[in-house]
Formats: sequence, structure tokens, C-alpha cells
Amino acid sequence: MADWWDADGRRHRKQFATAQAAKQHEHRETALAHSKRARREIKLAGSGASAKDLREKDTATVAPAKGKLGVMIPGMGAVATTFVAGVEAVRKGIAAPIGSLTQMGTIRLGKRTEGRSPKIKEFVPLAGLDDLVFTGWDIFEDDMYAAALNAGVLERDLLDKIKARLSSIRPLKAVFDHNYVKNIDGPNVKKGKNKLDLAEQLRQDIRDFRKSSGADRFVTIWCASTETFIEPTAAHQSLKALEKAMRENDESIAPSMVYAYASLMEGVPFANGAPNLTVDIPAMHELAHERELPICGKDFKTGQTLMKSVLAPAFKARLLGLHGWYSTNILGNRDGEVLDDPGSFKTKEESKLGLLEHILQPALYPELYGNIFHKVRINYYPPRGDNKEGWDNIDIFGWLGYPMQIKVDFLCRDSILAAPIVLDLVLFLDLAQRTPELARLGIQEWLSFYFKSPMTAPGLYPEHDLFIQLMKLKNTLRHLKGEELITHLGLEYYD
Ligand SMILES: NC(=O)c1ccc[n+]([C@@H]2O[C@H](COP(=O)([O-])OP(=O)(O)OC[C@H]3O[C@@H](n4cnc5c(N)ncnc54)[C@H](O)[C@@H]3O)[C@@H](O)[C@H]2O)c1
Repeated sequence: MADWWDADGRRHRKQFATAQAAKQHEHRETALAHSKRARREIKLAGSGASAKDLREKDTATVAPAKGKLGVMIPGMGAVATTFVAGVEAVRKGIAAPIGSLTQMGTIRLGKRTEGRSPKIKEFVPLAGLDDLVFTGWDIFEDDMYAAALNAGVLERDLLDKIKARLSSIRPLKAVFDHNYVKNIDGPNVKKGKNKLDLAEQLRQDIRDFRKSSGADRFVTIWCASTETFIEPTAAHQSLKALEKAMRENDESIAPSMVYAYASLMEGVPFANGAPNLTVDIPAMHELAHERELPICGKDFKTGQTLMKSVLAPAFKARLLGLHGWYSTNILGNRDGEVLDDPGSFKTKEESKLGLLEHILQPALYPELYGNIFHKVRINYYPPRGDNKEGWDNIDIFGWLGYPMQIKVDFLCRDSILAAPIVLDLVLFLDLAQRTPELARLGIQEWLSFYFKSPMTAPGLYPEHDLFIQLMKLKNTLRHLKGEELITHLGLEYYD
């Protein structure tokens, strides 16, 4: 017996001779469903239904963003505090949400001649910043104001203007295991008889926040430290196995999985900002699917990898070859300290290494990308704090094999780049949970744009090219609203 998923994300069980036969069946069914859908849409269009009718029919499937949205954050460090402080500052009108697609981005609709490019937040019903309420967990007891000061990303002057709001957010006791994050330790930690019991305590926190916040909808976003590298084990293969392993305190259940399990069990979507496995295991896919809850990850795409996902597609587009790509970083914040541990670094390294291969497709272009030396280093260097410096040396080759070099020196601010991503993910995950067509998929691949190591359906390679990811995201929004998808074909302008 094996499971297969239909085009609407529903799970079915059937007898197959091999796993490959199950996959082939799934592909056939999906293709059939897509062609049926296309035929239905063509028929609808031919029946004289206007674009407006179609739009209204489709928008009816996105529930409005009524009431407050509760944002729950495991890990109240540099990224989380920069995000929350930023939202408060924007709410007060003392700063602008630069870098946020949901706040500043526009979306072109229809033909280039139509001049229709509304803001994304006016096009789809997103929660407003005034409706966000926050809580979080951390192993340290600092409230958000003290934690933000400690992180040293934002100036005291700005933080003082929003001090009252920030100091009112105090971290709940964390689920923490020192074996998973070796270089830090803190006092604000839950105790429990096993991991299932700890999950129950987190679930109680969520239920308490449900009451105290007055929010109607919730989203959890992991902004805690990167955990040590683990590979999927038998304990991760099904929900039943996961729960058994949690009850037995199996060491392959990381704290981040306990948070993810608790959130999903409470009906709350989950996004993973770190490269940990967390929700990227079959047991969590199953839970998300069964409960029709959006999940996404992994690892916010902020500095160096953002640049890679822009440059590598350019090389491939122009068929320039690549001999090697050496990337190194100096970073002095707590994240850098955690990543100084080889176990946590390995998790990050895996996440950063994958994208070149997926973008450059060496199997299709062996003479250009068949022999790449790709190296990534992160060095903990306290004087720089959150102001990371990322260097890249790229050895490319062109016409007749002649070599060339590119150097990139990105003096960035890690959390300044991450904060708008957190905001967008919170708002888009909430949109997804109000949209049955998206919620029932579980994994939200259309949010790949925000991740170094995007989660996809099993067996599907991730799309890493930033601009393909952006097109996928915007086309998903157009699709939800019954707008024409933009293919950039454009022959009709010359008729
Ligand atoms: N800033 C970026 O550009 C960026 C990019 C991609 C991914 N990330 C990831 O985002 C995460 C946060 O980054 P940061 O710079 O804010 O790090 P940080 O060290 O400042 O904050 C992480 C916080 O998580 C807490 N924590 C650790 N384990 C916990 C647990 N089990 N439960 C609750 N709290 C826990 C720590 O005490 C710390 O306060 C890291 O995993 C980092 O790798 C950051």
C-alpha cells in the first residue's frame, strides 16, 4: 500500500507494485486533473462569463482577514526583535517597511497596455499591521526591548520610542536541548517528563495566548537558533512514529519539531526561518495535510545566498561556465556564535550549498557546470556584531574557455534583511490559511522566494532562481483572484 496525492492535495491510498509506480500514478492523475481544469476554464470563458464573474467566483474562496492575527515566535533574538520593533515603528509612522513585498510591492494585472498595477496588499486580503499581536519563547528571560538592545541591530533612540510595546512582550519558557544548540545555554526552559509532555505545555501556551490576545488566527514562525545537523530517521516518517518517538524521548526529535508539532496540533500554520529539518519531514507533511495547514521553510534567504540566486541564473542564462565559487562570511552576533559549532554549521552549510546545483543543472550542462568547486565558510568574529560581511570569489569561463573572475563584497545587516521576510511570511501564511485551495496543499512552495532551501513536494526539485520564484509567487496571487497568469509571451501586442 502507498499514499498518493491528487492535484487538490487530497491523500489517497492504493496498492502499487513499486514506489515508482505510485509516483507515476500520481503524475498521471495530476496531469489529468490539470487538463480537466484547463478545459473547464476555457468552457467557462466561452460561456460568456466575464473576467469579473470568474474573479468573483474565485475570490469567494479567500476568507477575509477579520480580527487580530497572533504571531508566535520561538526565538526572540536579533531577527525576531528587529521584525517586531520594525512593525511597531511602521505602525507609529516613524519608519518605512523597506524590503517588504507585502507592504511596498505591486503586481501587474492583465496586459502591459492596461496600466493595472495595484499594491499587493490592496490586491489580496492581507492582515493589516495594526492587527498583529505577538508572543514568543526564548531560553533567556529578556523582554523584547532588552533583547533588541542586546542584539544591537537597531539604535536605542528608535527602540526607546516603542519601548512600552516591546517591554510588554516577555518570552515564555522555551523547549530547549543543549545537544541541539551547543554554544548557548539559558535559564528560561520548560521541564517535562518527555517530549510529548513538553509539546503539551507549548500547546497550553498557545491556548493561553488565544485567550489573552483576542486574536482569531495564528501563525508560528521559527526565529530561534540553528540546530545541529540531523538526517531524517524512522521516527520522522509518519505522525504515529513521531508521537511514539516523542513519548520515548527519542534523540532524533529536535526542539524545533516539538514546537512545529504543537503548533500544527493547535491548528496553527508554521514557517521555518532556520535550516533545521523541523517541518520538512514526512510526519509533519502528513500532519499539515491532514489538518489542511500551511507550512513552509527552510532558512530565510537574506544576504549571500540572495546574491547567489541572482548571479547563478545570469551565468546559466548566458551559458557562462563556472569553475568554482568560494564564499566566506564574518559575523559577530549570537547566530554567528551558534554557527561556530560544527554541528549547527553543518546544517547551515547544507542549506547554502544546495542551490548552485539546482540552478545550474550540471546534468544538463556537464561541460559548463559538471566540475564546480563550491565552498561556504562562516567565521564568528564578534567586533562586527550583526553587520555581516560576505565575500564571494567566483571563477567563471566564457567563449573558448577563457577564464574570468567576479568578486562580491556584501557589507550587509543580517537582521535588517531578514525582518521584512518574517513580516511577508507571516502575512502570506495567514492568507494561505484563509484560502482552502492553498491550505490543503500543506507545503507552500509558492513562498520559495523567501528561502535558501525551499520545501517542495517529495521528489520535486526546488526552484531557486529568485526571479522564477517571484513569478511563481505573483502568479499564485493572480490565480487566487482569477486574474490571467502572466507568461511574458506578448505576441498579441504585434497583431
Ligand atoms: N539574520 C539572517 O539573515 C538569517 C538568515 C537566515 C536564517 N537565519 C536564522 O534565523 C535564526 C535567528 O537568527 P538570529 O540572528 O535572530 O539569532 P539569535 O541568536 O539572535 O536569536 C535566536 C534566539 O533563539 C533562542 N533559542 C535558541 N534555541 C531556542 C529554543 N529551542 N526555543 C526558544 N528559543 C531558542 C536563542 O536564545 C536566541 O535568543 C537563526 O537560526 C538563523 O540561522 C537568520
